[in-house]
Amino acid sequence: MSNVYVTRMIPEAGIEHLKAHCDKVEINPDDHVLEPGELLEKVKGRDAVLCLLTDIINDQVYEAAGPQCRIFANMAVGFNNLDLEAARKRNIVVSNTPGVLDDATADMAWSLLFSTARRIVESDAHMRSGKWDGWGPLQFIGKDITGRTLGIIGAGRIGTNFALKSAGFNMKVLYADVRRNEELETKLGAKKVELDELLKESDFVSLHVFLSPETTHLIGERELTLMKDSAVLINSSRGPVIDEKALVKALQNGDIASAGLDVYEFEPKAAEGLLELKNVVACPHIASATFDTRNNMALIAARNITEVLAGRDPITRVN
Ligand code: DGY
Repeated sequence: MSNVYVTRMIPEAGIEHLKAHCDKVEINPDDHVLEPGELLEKVKGRDAVLCLLTDIINDQVYEAAGPQCRIFANMAVGFNNLDLEAARKRNIVVSNTPGVLDDATADMAWSLLFSTARRIVESDAHMRSGKWDGWGPLQFIGKDITGRTLGIIGAGRIGTNFALKSAGFNMKVLYADVRRNEELETKLGAKKVELDELLKESDFVSLHVFLSPETTHLIGERELTLMKDSAVLINSSRGPVIDEKALVKALQNGDIASAGLDVYEFEPKAAEGLLELKNVVACPHIASATFDTRNNMALIAARNITEVLAGRDPITRVN
């Protein structure tokens, strides 16, 4: 008798798979994040839990689930919301959904880059306000993209995908990562540099790192000051990678030109003053939000559960 809990409604592909392979599947029927107390209550006695990046899964949650629980399957590539060490000690598998969201996330980073560089949101608002009085030579002047220098921080799967998409724009590509990325070097002539050099040289800086103690506040006041005052910063990774208060200050002072953000340090809140700034394009953590991608993420998370409950390895294990 397999008993699975899903912490919030997810795309149908995942639900269908679970229902076809498990005896009991209960889904949080309300489209909201469970309060910590509700979560503890709901996971009790489950063999598997399909959770989301908004669920904080700590040892208390594993304890509440009980010793029969085999897997927490996160429907996200990021897994900073789960305590991996505590899961390991309890022999609980943690899985994520890598691979299927590389294109969607990289596309989103480009969308933020384009809309920030070319002031799309600002000019759309102007058009809708009815204030546009005709073409003007000084209106909404933005930044060139073609031929400029692109700095990628974190050249893993998504960072690589994002960088490769720059080929049509003939950009000089720099990357900062602990590992060498031969694909980027061969296909784009990209150069591996230290973070400080990347920040000083790049016209566009895009973040693609996992959140960890090492990457928390990777971009703070010092790093923002190193950047060109004409530079654009894009973040589609995790909010706490940027010290958001320092970012607001840098954008207000003109230390950098603008920022395109999909993630925030304290979601769902944005730092005070951030959303009043015209030089910010802000989206509500939607990088993987395409029909196909979200279906695939839901399906992989569900398949990880059914594999583990069948006594096999998950497809995409984290711990
Ligand atoms: C992830 O998967 O980690 C994204 O942030 C949400 O899709």
